[in-house]
Amino acid sequence: MTLQNVLVIGNGGREFAIAKKLKQSPKVDHVYCAPGNVGMPTVGVEPVAIEELDFAGLIKFAQEHQVAWTFVGPEDALVAGIVDEFQTAGLKIFGPNARAAQLEGSKEYALSFMNKYGVPTAKHLAFENEAEALTHVADFGFPVVLKLDGLAGGKGVVIASDQADAEATIKEMFADHTGRLVIEECLVGPEYSMFVLIENGDYQILPMAQDHKRAYDGDKGPNTGGMGAYSPLPQLSEFDRQRMVEEVVEPSVKGLVDGEYDYHGILYIGLMLTEDGPKVIEYNVRLGDPETQVILPRLATDLFDLVDACVNDQPLPEVVEKEDAVLGVVVASKGYLQKPVKNQALGKFPVAGNITVDYANVAGSLADLHGAGGRLLMVIATASDLKQAQQDVYAYLDQLEEPECFWRQDIGEKAFNDVWPEIS
Ligand code: AMP
Ligand code: GLY
Repeated sequence: MTLQNVLVIGNGGREFAIAKKLKQSPKVDHVYCAPGNVGMPTVGVEPVAIEELDFAGLIKFAQEHQVAWTFVGPEDALVAGIVDEFQTAGLKIFGPNARAAQLEGSKEYALSFMNKYGVPTAKHLAFENEAEALTHVADFGFPVVLKLDGLAGGKGVVIASDQADAEATIKEMFADHTGRLVIEECLVGPEYSMFVLIENGDYQILPMAQDHKRAYDGDKGPNTGGMGAYSPLPQLSEFDRQRMVEEVVEPSVKGLVDGEYDYHGILYIGLMLTEDGPKVIEYNVRLGDPETQVILPRLATDLFDLVDACVNDQPLPEVVEKEDAVLGVVVASKGYLQKPVKNQALGKFPVAGNITVDYANVAGSLADLHGAGGRLLMVIATASDLKQAQQDVYAYLDQLEEPECFWRQDIGEKAFNDVWPEIS
């Protein structure tokens, strides 16, 4: 059998994990990642200096390097129509087309899809102008959720605790951004990430994970892209998981088929398990970061086979999960989210035993590594149970001296104490 070359688009920790997993497949030769990051050669992945929105450049590269297919990591490229352009050029690509990508690109679009196809979600309304939003905000009770209607990297959401907070936030959002504002009832319950790999009507569910979106311990501070994750979810019963499949995944996939989206890629469903059952917080049209870094190591099925079947319209192989538990903690730049330190010198992050390091926002060279702002890298442990994985990650982090960085100290706690703090 001839080995295949594949191309991954993106440069973060998620793309590091995707490219690493593909490189481990016995069917794969070169794994290119555009633009990739300087840490990727540690796992045999070849960064390619082409920006993720330079579609013409990426198409040319894929043609010249006999790339079997391209895996799109981030949402921006999907929303901007990378899939449509590759397909027009006769190239295979994994990810939804621009029309389907609106499920992430516009909160309002996603909410009307959910309403149309009977997918449970929060009560909500979208507003075009500030005065109307101010008039109706109290109808939702407090706390209330305020969302900008565009891509915001998970950071365009504010949970306002009272009328004054809500009014100030609404005024700020309309002053700083164009477009509509979505107001939602605030749901309460544990939050989980579900990743569904979809080949039109056929689907497979990847291992589930829990993210930690707030910047600081105890779920305090602003929403970030995600500060750590773990998989599996020992606190989630099989009964509740099955409800999620029947009440959320099934109608979502059926809606994609009935709406003729021709969906080929990942649908990431952010779910909250409320007293009234599972409800969708958001759809994303790609894998999650940092969840990908902990779910892919748990995948026993060859990722190349899954994606290859999907892009070739073949029946999907069954997803088999390993028994292992995986937990990862994000090392972020001091000052992230508001004012991240940039260009600080970083120490070494040796990979040893059950610890791996997935690089994200780093620059310089491996011998002289620097931070490039935001989420820099993730330290990940694989163990026979989550407690052990958690202990091993923190034992590793405790030894580091990185005064210009920070990380949360409580990643994974919710797996052991099935409680969640009051939203503040
Ligand atoms: P999103 O960008 O829609 O994922 O929202 C970011 C985070 O805000 C979510 O992960 C939740 O923790 C929180 N959130 C969003 N919508 C709601 C809601 N309706 N009720 C409670 N929390 C929410
Ligand atoms: N971990 C959250 C996201 O990828 O949107």
